[in-house]
Amino acid sequence: MRFAVCSLLSLSSTALALVHGDVKLSRRQSGVDAFVTSEDPIAIQGVLNNIGPGSMSKGAKPGVVVASPDHGSPDPVDYLYTWTRDSSLVLKLLIDRQTQGRGDFSTTIDNWRASTGRIQQLDNPSGGPTTGGLGEPKFNIDETPFTGAWGRPQRDGPALRATAAITYANSLGATGNASALYPSIKLDLDYVSQYWNGQTFDLWEEVNSAGSAFTTAVQHRALREGAKFAAAQGDTASATTYATQADGVLCYLQTYWDASKGYIVANKNNGRTGKDANTILASIHTFDPAAGCDAATWQPCSDIALANHKVVVDSFRTIYALNSAAPAGAAVAVGRYLEDGYFGGNPWFINTFAAAELLYDALFQWEKIGSITVTNTSLAFFQQFSSTITPAAYPSSSSEFTSLTAAIKTYADGFLAIAQKYIPASGEISEQFSRKDGTQMSATYLTWSFAAAATAFDARAGHVSASWGASGLTVPTDCPPAPINPGGGGGGGGNGGGSTIEVTFHETATTTTGEALFITGSLDALGDWSTENAVPLKAGANNVWTVVVPIPGNYIFECKKKNGTLEKEETNQHQATTPYTGTYTLNDTWQN
Ligand code: NOJ
Ligand code: NOJ
Repeated sequence: MRFAVCSLLSLSSTALALVHGDVKLSRRQSGVDAFVTSEDPIAIQGVLNNIGPGSMSKGAKPGVVVASPDHGSPDPVDYLYTWTRDSSLVLKLLIDRQTQGRGDFSTTIDNWRASTGRIQQLDNPSGGPTTGGLGEPKFNIDETPFTGAWGRPQRDGPALRATAAITYANSLGATGNASALYPSIKLDLDYVSQYWNGQTFDLWEEVNSAGSAFTTAVQHRALREGAKFAAAQGDTASATTYATQADGVLCYLQTYWDASKGYIVANKNNGRTGKDANTILASIHTFDPAAGCDAATWQPCSDIALANHKVVVDSFRTIYALNSAAPAGAAVAVGRYLEDGYFGGNPWFINTFAAAELLYDALFQWEKIGSITVTNTSLAFFQQFSSTITPAAYPSSSSEFTSLTAAIKTYADGFLAIAQKYIPASGEISEQFSRKDGTQMSATYLTWSFAAAATAFDARAGHVSASWGASGLTVPTDCPPAPINPGGGGGGGGNGGGSTIEVTFHETATTTTGEALFITGSLDALGDWSTENAVPLKAGANNVWTVVVPIPGNYIFECKKKNGTLEKEETNQHQATTPYTGTYTLNDTWQN
């Protein structure tokens, strides 16, 4: 949807009209400070316009976040849907600002919570509320399921939504209001806890693999803060489950860093280099101001995050004509990944903002800690700003600290200056800008682009969000082998990795004398799909048939029920993933 400046203004509140005066002034002054001052209120208004009943989200239920008002031809794309990922990231921004006393978004937040509660309950192509449906990536804006073909599931959504909701609940303090949010938060956390090791599409909705760096990082965060939140709600059983699973996810997170390559490889299983802004987004959305420069969680000032930042940013230096004039070590426009072909493969605003945000977060931490540590891993990153720097810790009293922080601040501002250059005076921000000449491309008024601008501005101003519990974490020493995604339908099975889980199958079925129930499925313990080796269930009270089968932890398996006498197969096949440790129960009712 393309709007002239005037129609944007007429659709918006007086707040934006006031801002408009500043915009004109600021463009003349140029400079990043002026850009931040003028763009920030526009970005917030841009977000609000796209949340029902906002001026650019016509047809959206209250609290539904529209990805972009574009609705297909003549618009370049159809983004008039609500994605769980985009929505949750956008709400996190509003919740952080409200929590910090920088705006009152309570009506929007309440609407979003109510809408979330309804959307969570929808049966959709990924499943129902407790059978995988929370991994459905997007919905129609009238809160009905989207049933067309799509890359599903995308398992970052429920994690991001839990993080936003927990941040909000925590801000409510120990009131009944926080408890009222718990059931919905628990649904998301249970999903993450159960399915984090399942096959997933990445955040760009393209790569279907056993894991994606951003997805794993935000899952870890959600489970970690979820464990704390569940405990505060008195749900110690869930707290223990989430904490145990979080350890497994933290183990898995480590497997993306490839020390020999010197960067975080974004996805499991694909033919790309793996250099991807996915990993920069992972760091900024799991930044914890209390976690120092910890490498285990890719904190923005960790050597891993900085080394990776350089590799990812550098990967865009030569492929975009737009970047050709930038000297080494200067900011450039940042895309998704170098093999990208979507709209020809261009820089994205969210990623260019993210490159800046990671550096602002790092600067915040170095000031807070009072030193910068350069390691062999991060050396090349720091050499961009000082050719003579060597691995060591540089206290804030040192001249190295002063010159490095100044240079890195300039570098970070450089990314904002690039975004500024391709954002018109109206302040509108699309998804992409042309790799050749910077013209805005693809979806217009992208909600996530506005939010990414605002969170980068917040990081620059030192408005950091609350700690989520990343401080002092150590990677468990007994990490299991990484889970493997299953193959296509029918076959499959991961390689497991956790300890053996006692899986209890409960099957409710009315049978007649002589009939018996069996289970068969995608691993030896379940008879490997054969009829002869199918596992018999034992009849119990109330028509519930039961069997306990030891299955490896972290294992994705599929099963079918059979009726022994009639050899009648149930049509639906069930997929489940055993947890990392503990026990697991599958309840089901025989369908004829
Ligand atoms: C391809 C893009 O690369 C992806 O990010 C997008 O979500 C889908 N097309 C749908 O528009
Ligand atoms: C395409 C992006 O790749 C994806 O991350 C996003 O969720 C959708 N567009 C909606 O903005």
